[in-house]
Amino acid sequence: MIYLDYCSTTPLHNLVIEKMRKIDGEVFGNPSSIHQFGQKAKAIIESSRKDIASIFDCSSNEIIFTSSGTEANNLVLWDVFQKGGKHIIISDIEHPCISKTCSILEKFGVKISKIPVNKNGIIRISELKKSINKNTSLVSIMSVNNEIGTIQPIEEIIEICNHNKILFHTDAIQAFGKIDLNYKKYKPHMASFSAHKIYGPKGVGALYIKKGIKLNPLIYGGSQEMQVRAGTENLSGIAGFAVASKLANENLKNNFIKLNELSNKLKKAIFLNINNAKILCNDSDQIPGFISLKLSGVNANDLLIKLDIDGFGISTGAACSSGVNKTSSVLKAIGLDAKSASSVIRISLGKYTKETDLISFVDSLSKNVKIIRNEKK
Ligand SMILES: Cc1ncc(COP(=O)(O)O)c(C=O)c1O
Repeated sequence: MIYLDYCSTTPLHNLVIEKMRKIDGEVFGNPSSIHQFGQKAKAIIESSRKDIASIFDCSSNEIIFTSSGTEANNLVLWDVFQKGGKHIIISDIEHPCISKTCSILEKFGVKISKIPVNKNGIIRISELKKSINKNTSLVSIMSVNNEIGTIQPIEEIIEICNHNKILFHTDAIQAFGKIDLNYKKYKPHMASFSAHKIYGPKGVGALYIKKGIKLNPLIYGGSQEMQVRAGTENLSGIAGFAVASKLANENLKNNFIKLNELSNKLKKAIFLNINNAKILCNDSDQIPGFISLKLSGVNANDLLIKLDIDGFGISTGAACSSGVNKTSSVLKAIGLDAKSASSVIRISLGKYTKETDLISFVDSLSKNVKIIRNEKK
C-alpha cells in the first residue's frame, strides 16, 4: 500500500512513538496532583510547552494544549460570542471547523463575513479591507488550505488587522511543518496547530495566544492550561506533539526541497501519461508536495476506489469530510461548477514518499483514468 494523503493525516514518526511509549509506560501521575507522581507528569507537559513555544519564538505561557486543531479553532470563535462580539470575518475556504462553527454563531446573532478568493485560492485583500467595520471583533484566515494547498498572505493580513486594531487568528494546521511560521515582522494574535499533520499523534492540538489576550474557555472545569482549557491533559500525546514539532521544524528546508522535486516529477509524469489533466492553482501559491488534479470525464470517487484497490491512498475534497458526497465549497470558491469539482482528486506527498512509489502510482492512475473514460490503452 502506498500512502499519498499526507494532508489528511501522517503516520507517527519513530521518535514520536518511542517517546510516547516511554511516557505511557513510566509516567501516569495526574499533572495537577501535588505529589511527585503529579510533578513528574507536570514537568513533561511544561517541557513540551517550552519546546513548542521555542519554535514560534514565543513564551511558554502563550501556548495552551487542546484535544485537536478543531477544538483550538472553536475556542477562538466561541470566545467572541462569550464576550458579546458582533462580527467575525473569515475566508470563503476555511476548514469546516471554522466555517460550520461560524454558521452556528450566526444563529446566535454574530454577523459573519466571508471573504472570497481568486481562482488560485488566494483571498481578495480589497474585500477584506471593505468588510472590516467598527463591530469587527476577529478576523480568522487559514494559513494554508487543506483542499488546494494555497498559502495566504498572512503577514499582509496581520498588518491590516493591526492597523484596524482587530484580533487576528490563523488556522495554521496545514502550514506547520511545511512553511516557516516564525513570522518575522508581524505575529498573529492567535494560531491553531494539530499534531497529527506533522507525524505526531491524533487528538492533540495547540493554540498560540499572544500575551495579554485572555480567552474564555470552551470547556469548563478544572484550572488546567492556564484556566483556558479544563480537563486532565493527554500526557503522552502532548510529549509526542513536542517531539514531532521539533522534527518538523528542524527539517523544514530539506523537506521543502525534497517535496518540491518529487511533486515536479509527479506532475511531469501525469502530463506525459494522461490527457485532459489540469492542475488547480499556481505552484508558487501552494505548499510543496500538494497536487489538486482535475481529470475531465472522470468521477473522482470512482477513481479513488479503483486506486485504493490497486493499493494507493489519495483523497477527493476535504479529508475530514470524505464520505460525505457534496460539492466542495473550496472548489466552488475557486470557480469550479459541481461537475468539474466532482472530477478533482487531491494527492499529497510526505516524508515517506519515494520516487518509485510515484512511478507505480502514475501507472495505476493512467490505467484507471483510461478505463473510466473508456479510452483506448
Ligand atoms: C486546515 C485544517 N484545519 C483544521 C483541521 C482539524 O484538525 P484536527 O483534525 O486536529 O481536529 C484540519 C484537519 O484536516 C485542517 O486541515
